Amino acid sequence: MAILVCGGAGYIGSHMVKRLVENGEDVVVADNLSTGHKKAIDPQAKFYQGDIRDRAFLDRIFLNEDIKAVVHFAAFSIVPESMSEPLKYFDNNTGGMITLLEAMRDFGIKYIVFSSTAATYGIPEHMPIKETDSQKPINPYGLSKLMMEHMMAWADKAYGIKFVALRYFNVAGAAPDGTIGEDHGPETHLVPIIMQVAQGKRPELSIFGDDYNTPDGTNVRDYVHVMDLADAHILALKYLEDNNQSNAFNLGSSTGFSNKQMLEAAREVTGKEIPAKIAARRPGDPDSLIAASDKARSVLGWKPQYDDVHDIIATAWKWHSTHPKGYDDRN
Ligand code: UFG
Repeated sequence: MAILVCGGAGYIGSHMVKRLVENGEDVVVADNLSTGHKKAIDPQAKFYQGDIRDRAFLDRIFLNEDIKAVVHFAAFSIVPESMSEPLKYFDNNTGGMITLLEAMRDFGIKYIVFSSTAATYGIPEHMPIKETDSQKPINPYGLSKLMMEHMMAWADKAYGIKFVALRYFNVAGAAPDGTIGEDHGPETHLVPIIMQVAQGKRPELSIFGDDYNTPDGTNVRDYVHVMDLADAHILALKYLEDNNQSNAFNLGSSTGFSNKQMLEAAREVTGKEIPAKIAARRPGDPDSLIAASDKARSVLGWKPQYDDVHDIIATAWKWHSTHPKGYDDRN
């Protein structure tokens, strides 16, 4: 039986597909290629191009393939964009989940692992953030994902579809063999932007604010390597099969790094100067976001391999320095 990866051509989804294939699983990818890259999909996976909001498209996959579980990455994820285009997020993210769960119900698919986000917590009440802390998102992106978590909880009660929601903190890095990596258009994330400055593709990094309530004044985030994240999804699938119950876990390293510290680490890893300036704050950035990740470690048995941001940045640099045009598939 196969695992269906929705959004398997995206940054995190493609790393998950690679890990599943390495583990000997049969993998089916569904992706509309709106932000993903066909070249990022492992050639051993079977690819269906289409949109998860299209019920006929999902039916075709579930009729053709023997699917045992779904891993769902197919969503928009840029916080500032969600502020200016909220309905785009509720349509694709929240609406897409309705169609997906309906199809899973009708085809008797019992398990789903879902990409949730630290953005569901909003302004943190405690640091580090625990899974039991209240979820009060402050942007449409976080709310679209929280609604998806709630939908899955009710679909569990009504139809017995069991889910694991994995609330990601800041995902970075690339496959250590350098075959796949992070390529968004436009790019908004800190690590790939720093890489682009190191490559000379951008003149300088703008650090958004240095007057936050943090030790050096710049935002503090919790970085987790994309392959460690993929491993957590594998463990979540096993958790569902072993326990047949739903749950939610934070995925982070439990260590915070400031934007200035990330820049310094990237200078050390790349040996490049990486010019930077302080710019205005970006709307919607909380001071610090750090995960309590002991639940994933104790319940799932998750053991992240990358506990040093230098190592995470080194894998990102390997991809960027060997793929100066990314996947080179944009018009
Ligand atoms: N930053 C800069 N300059 C840039 C880009 C980013 O200073 O050019 C800063 C941001 O202001 C922030 C930090 O770098 O302080 C990280 O920003 P990212 O855009 O890389 O990531 P976010 O923390 O905004 O968001 C990411 C994911 C979200 C997720 C969140 C959870 O994109 O989906 O982590 O922590 F919800």
